[in-house]
Amino acid sequence: MSTPDTTTQTGTPVASDEHSLAAGRDGAIALHDRYLVEKLAQFNRERIPERIVHAKGGGAFGEFVVTGDVSAYTRAAVFQPGARTETVQRFSSVAGEQGSPDTWRDVRGFSVKFYTTEGNYDIVGNNTPVFFIRDGIKFPDFIHSQKRLPGSGLRDADMQWDFWTLSPESAHQVTYLMGDRGLPRSWRHMPGFGSHTYQWINAAGERFWVKYHFDALQGNVEMSSEEAEAIAGADADYYRRDLYEAIERGEYPSWKLSVQVMPYEDAKTYRFNPFDLTKVWPHADYPLIEVGVHTLNRNPENFFAQIEQAAFSPANTVPGIDISPDRMLQARVFSYPDAQRYRVGTNYNQIPVNAPVAPVANYSQDGAQRHGFNSPSTPVYAPNSKGGPTADAAAAGVGSWESDGELVRTAATLHAEDDDFGQAGTLYREVFDAAAQERFLKTITGAVGAVQSPEIRERAIAYWTQVDAELGAALRRNLEADVEAVAATVDA
Ligand code: HEM
Repeated sequence: MSTPDTTTQTGTPVASDEHSLAAGRDGAIALHDRYLVEKLAQFNRERIPERIVHAKGGGAFGEFVVTGDVSAYTRAAVFQPGARTETVQRFSSVAGEQGSPDTWRDVRGFSVKFYTTEGNYDIVGNNTPVFFIRDGIKFPDFIHSQKRLPGSGLRDADMQWDFWTLSPESAHQVTYLMGDRGLPRSWRHMPGFGSHTYQWINAAGERFWVKYHFDALQGNVEMSSEEAEAIAGADADYYRRDLYEAIERGEYPSWKLSVQVMPYEDAKTYRFNPFDLTKVWPHADYPLIEVGVHTLNRNPENFFAQIEQAAFSPANTVPGIDISPDRMLQARVFSYPDAQRYRVGTNYNQIPVNAPVAPVANYSQDGAQRHGFNSPSTPVYAPNSKGGPTADAAAAGVGSWESDGELVRTAATLHAEDDDFGQAGTLYREVFDAAAQERFLKTITGAVGAVQSPEIRERAIAYWTQVDAELGAALRRNLEADVEAVAATVDA
């Protein structure tokens, strides 16, 4: 079989794939073996920084098809009746590094990029509808507490529970995390949520607040802690493999996308802050409205180029969709493009997986690795009288909201039910059945049991007591029984 010539990066045929150029059989190798030097230097630069969070993941390409009619709420082309849009999706775990086992208990990332005719639209969510904090200023501290100690490089239960118990707004999300949702059977068998409240704007300019829900049409299936631990040792890439192999077999996973829609004015008088990311909106107040179906049907051909370099961002919105007063969302809108300029490179949006199908026209230029450019006759500044692109507020279709008052640093908790523990208690008492409650107690007993500091343990018991008094009492009994059991072993 004839094969193509090996070449250098500049296309010149090379003399050998296997032998360096050397001065005689036992002589030193020659520095002017340009291919050897290029090959080793290129190899040293194969890695880019892993994502600061959500480093371990996998993904695939797909298609989103609109099946409902939400045109009364948004003018976004991607959500108009009958629209079909190409997508890429990435799933991930939050805390572990690139090689970490997929089945460690964690929140799972759920990111979808829609290559819409009006520009890229990204929903960068999780498999839980809420989050641990409600102000982005706490995000680096939160992540530090979940990652590794600076000295030993070990993960540490004391630091996790110290942060959580001193941040009571985390209770709802920690209840999800320690419950069955913390261990999905696979990425195909879990839901996705935009989590934040977003803004939709319809063709008449009317505004609405929305929350996104992706329901797995494969069903929601979880696994036990014991099974997850065994798989973590046997196959660290369990979820990544499952998704890849299912798509190769032609079993295309899909999710139904629905939204909860809150009329713009309701937000002012709702019983809790509807922009608080630690809360869900009860479906009884705002029922689900069908939007469409998202199906993954094509594996990446190159994991690095198409999944590792993919850059999802809540800042990528399209006409008819905007952000909201949610402070977390506002922090994220800054954070993601900033992370991606560093992680992937200034011109990361020119990489094929990130490039929009919609035309790009603006006055940005140059920077490392830039390969797209305007024709020389396009002016390089605005305003200009030379026919360059001009901004159009009507085409942008952006939203807005009223805001006034002094600059303050305070929690946005002014509503009657802006507490930290109420919805966590509802989740534990009303959503978990008796068996799920039992598994939950076992999981938190193990997790809090790993805490060394008596003070932090006591705070953890108080935290769960606020979620549910009986749960707190049961946790105390379990922890005391464990201490007695250990003491008995030591005595014997
Ligand atoms: C990834 C920051 C909250 C979901 C990331 C990345 C950063 C980041 C810097 C890496 C981006 C990259 O390198 O491409 C933050 C900050 C937050 C926050 C500052 C709070 C203010 C959240 C929330 C969610 C979320 C609330 C879900 C609702 C994700 C997901 C990824 C991610 C799914 C992985 C995206 C991918 O698949 O590439 N986050 N995050 N994050 N974040 Fe956040």
